[in-house]
Amino acid sequence: MNEPLQVTVQLGPRSYDIRVGEGLLSSCGSAVAGLGNISRVILVTNPTVDALYGDTVRESLEAAPGIESPVATVEIADGEEHKTLATVEGIYDRVLELGGDRNAVVIALGGGVVGDVAGFAAATVLRGLRVVMLPTTLLAQVDSSVGGKTGVNRPQGKNLVGAFHQPSLVLADTACLSTLSGREYSAGLAEVVKHGVVADAELLELLEQKTDAVLARDPAVMSSIVARNCAIKADVVSRDETENGLRRILNFGHTVGHALERLTDYKRYVHGEAVSIGMVAAARVSLQQGACDAAFVERLESLLDSLGLPTSLPAGLDREAVAGAVMHDKKASGDGVVFILTEGAGSCRQQLLDPADIAAAMGDSAAGV
Ligand SMILES: NC(=O)c1ccc[n+]([C@@H]2O[C@H](COP(=O)([O-])OP(=O)(O)OC[C@H]3O[C@@H](n4cnc5c(N)ncnc54)[C@H](O)[C@@H]3O)[C@@H](O)[C@H]2O)c1
Ligand SMILES: [Zn+2]
Repeated sequence: MNEPLQVTVQLGPRSYDIRVGEGLLSSCGSAVAGLGNISRVILVTNPTVDALYGDTVRESLEAAPGIESPVATVEIADGEEHKTLATVEGIYDRVLELGGDRNAVVIALGGGVVGDVAGFAAATVLRGLRVVMLPTTLLAQVDSSVGGKTGVNRPQGKNLVGAFHQPSLVLADTACLSTLSGREYSAGLAEVVKHGVVADAELLELLEQKTDAVLARDPAVMSSIVARNCAIKADVVSRDETENGLRRILNFGHTVGHALERLTDYKRYVHGEAVSIGMVAAARVSLQQGACDAAFVERLESLLDSLGLPTSLPAGLDREAVAGAVMHDKKASGDGVVFILTEGAGSCRQQLLDPADIAAAMGDSAAGV
């Protein structure tokens, strides 16, 4: 096993480390114990992840000095449909039944759903407990475990109730990627490509040069890629923690992506697939607005395609409907939509656009199917 890579999210007194490497789960106990002053730990996970990695994590935690044994595990049901206040309440109750106090630490072992739910529970129970993220999906490792956004869905929409609550530590074990489904893995790669497009031209080159190793989930290659992504997200978050400006660049591809997810009732695509189509659409909008050239649109499309991701709007989807759904995006303001345009590899800008412009450019994309 290579030395873990480390990135620090600089947020003054709330700064924290992200460690990335193969096999980190088996030594998570000492890393968690290093936080100090722990009364008890509560491990939140789901049955799928628990069966794969729960014992490794519990054994390591229970062997660490300063952490009591046995470790309490709270299993939440697997799936986005369980990202609800009811699930959060279940965690509250277990923490309180266990006699948790302000020195208790919540540990989130799983993908973005576990991280968002456990993070929100930690943010609010007893007015805030520390949370440690042990992300096990690629999406969670490169995106959701870093940055402190936590929350749940409501019938009115996704992620509408939540809090900013930064973790105290993030440990991303890239060996976990080996058990992910191909679809979930590719979906995580969409967010990796997104980071390259908005902030890191070299990351895009790396993905192009090492496509085979990336698709083979080579843990060493993926450790350097995950760490690089965490560094990008850490930098953006440290400069705009609560998304008042710069952090919006991480929404590249998401305006259309979210619209597509909504229009297809969240059934047809996993998030990263919709984002992949959304990024190609956003690149076409960028081309139309004179922000990037046609070669970059083609380059992006072929990279996403080689990573197993869809790049075009589904046949039969009315682009006016997409424009309407874009307008309903919670980021739409009175005059238009704050849209992230790519200026080519590693560079982007924000621009207020009329949804009609977005729809028109997407028409080109659909025509290319
Ligand atoms: N907080 C943020 O900043 C942020 C950012 C992006 C996305 N999100 C949220 O993240 C969620 C999506 O996260 P996700 O894509 O990780 O989905 P997920 O958490 O639903 O995980 C996907 C599936 O993979 C399983 N799984 C997890 N790790 C595994 C492993 N190593 N091997 C095999 N199976 C494994 C899970 O049990 C689940 O069935 C959404 O709710 C989204 O809103 C949050
Ligand atoms: Zn996303």
